[in-house]
Amino acid sequence: MTRPTRALIDLAALRQNYLIARHIHQGRALAVVKANAYGHGAIQCAQALSGTADGFAVALMSEALELRQAGITLPILVLEGCFDVQELEDACINHIWVAVHQASQINMLADCNLPPASLHVWLKVDSGMHRAGFALSAVSEAHARLAACPAVASITLMSHFARADEPTESATDQQIKAFEHATQHLPGARSLSNSAGVLAWPSANKDWARPGILLYGANPLPASYIEQHPHHTLLPVMCLESKVFAVKTLQPGEALGYGGTFIAEHPTRVGLVAIGYADGYPRSAPTGTPVAIDGQPSRVVGRVSMDMLNVDLTALPEAGIGSRVELWGRQIDINTVAQRANTIAYELLCNVKRVQRVYIGK
Ligand SMILES: Cc1ncc(COP(=O)(O)O)c(C=O)c1O
Repeated sequence: MTRPTRALIDLAALRQNYLIARHIHQGRALAVVKANAYGHGAIQCAQALSGTADGFAVALMSEALELRQAGITLPILVLEGCFDVQELEDACINHIWVAVHQASQINMLADCNLPPASLHVWLKVDSGMHRAGFALSAVSEAHARLAACPAVASITLMSHFARADEPTESATDQQIKAFEHATQHLPGARSLSNSAGVLAWPSANKDWARPGILLYGANPLPASYIEQHPHHTLLPVMCLESKVFAVKTLQPGEALGYGGTFIAEHPTRVGLVAIGYADGYPRSAPTGTPVAIDGQPSRVVGRVSMDMLNVDLTALPEAGIGSRVELWGRQIDINTVAQRANTIAYELLCNVKRVQRVYIGK
């Protein structure tokens, strides 16, 4: 028997989530497929979205080139922009759009000898996140310098939110207003919204959205907000699953696994599952983190090890060797697992490795 650990990836759900984003945003949307499509497989996801999406965004030029080599022909934006002249040339040859967020990138563009009108540029404005982008006071000059470069075919104005996943915080509203003010006299399309922007900030909806995490069915907003907005219901795309491959009963007082962090108080029937932190299931998930066993709710017990973890079978007498365990997916909300493990769904998804990805809903 091969190790029964796999990530089922539902490409129909991916397409549906994309369409939800575009419906809410009411403009075009670049599907963000960086970091191997948040662990879902960039090529497979881009292929599945190719008849539906307006284009894609990735972080790195190498990610964009990988998609082009796989035959993806829709627009692709590189969010970090180019690191050297070679990447600028790659962008031109492969019709890849590039973000420009600092003066050195404009200098490089002005100095190199690219064909006229060969490059579509997204000028990144720092509207308040203070991570990357031109300061509000420097945007007009950066725009003018880019517009003067013969190689530049078009300039789209973009910014990114720091706190759009906090719908009661004023920071996002301030970023939107700051962006609008700093760019009011500049021509070109606009792009502000990430997933949380699309879902919670209608005034951020401009010409282009850039949804990432929502495509994969993980809502970045607080549970209370999600409950009040059921029409935004997203479908989980990944189901991370494995099987029980050994069973034992712990007697009261017996400790389980590394560190003996779980000590049985009653006779406790536990199942050993073929997944661990080397597969991307977080070691920080404590006893009590929910799992589903043959569709029934249960929990992780003891410390997660590199290749295995234990689940509680005490209340599930029917369960045993071969029982299917869902770590996250349709039954187990990845946001709950992330919360228990002190992290976010983004990190859990990006960390999935060593498991076979099985694509359904093609
Ligand atoms: C510039 C930019 N746009 C869009 C996204 C997508 O964000 P999210 O996954 O929260 O939708 C990211 C993600 O980090 C980003 O850096």
